[in-house]
Amino acid sequence: MRLANSTTGYGPVAILLHWLTALVIIGLFALGLWMVELTYYDSWYTEAPAIHKSVGLLLFALVLLRLIWRLGNPHPEAIGQPLEKRLAGTMHWLLYLFMFAVLISGYLISTAKGKPIAVFDWFAVPATIHDLPEQEDVAGLFHFWLAWGLIVLSSGHTLAALKHHFIDRDATLRRMLRFTHDQ
Ligand code: HEM
Ligand code: HEM
Repeated sequence: MRLANSTTGYGPVAILLHWLTALVIIGLFALGLWMVELTYYDSWYTEAPAIHKSVGLLLFALVLLRLIWRLGNPHPEAIGQPLEKRLAGTMHWLLYLFMFAVLISGYLISTAKGKPIAVFDWFAVPATIHDLPEQEDVAGLFHFWLAWGLIVLSSGHTLAALKHHFIDRDATLRRMLRFTHDQ
């Protein structure tokens, strides 16, 4: 089986990375909103943020891998009118920008005091930039709004994919679901 993309379709690696990152992002968004409402007496009070950070850092590695894969592979051309194609291209890069911005702001909240972040009990990621004035609060504010921004953009992106599938009836969504290189 051909692992790479072609100019007409996505390969299995790009498809797997797309759906895995999408699922994890939606999961982390829900977990983030839920966990900040917990109080000290909830049994998940320390465990939920630990999971959020661990999974978030693993996602960081996955998104990096995804970007490298995208840059080192042919990319299937978007289907549709010229304006639609340009919009799709801009939207995809915006999604990458927001993914990285959310991940970096989350890292900066968690390492604000110079402490490393434990990824489950497997390994720890050290703090790099820390002890900036009000780092935890400022990064927290950015993280919140960037996470919402990412979800709003992803929702628009999802609606566009559904429009291609149900209204235009073209192969846009199908080729992100099936490991083939045909249109
Ligand atoms: C795409 C990935 C991520 C998404 C969608 C996401 C989403 C969220 C959301 C929605 C919140 C709640 C914000 C609030 O209501 O104040 C949150 C909180 C938080 N996230 Fe993330 N997050 C992601 C990745 C990360 C990463 C990688 C880290 C750290 C390594 C992290 C650390 C935190 C921390 C420490 C909080 C608590 C902030 C506070 O107490 O105000 N997040 N996240
Ligand atoms: C957090 C959620 C999501 C993010 C961050 C995201 C991100 C992206 C990105 C960056 C691309 C560009 C191709 C690449 O670099 O791999 C892409 C392509 C695509 N996505 Fe998503 N996606 C998400 C969810 C979804 C959902 C829920 C659907 C469908 C219901 C979907 C359908 C598609 C399709 C069909 C393409 C291919 C578009 C084309 O060939 O022009 N995505 N996505």
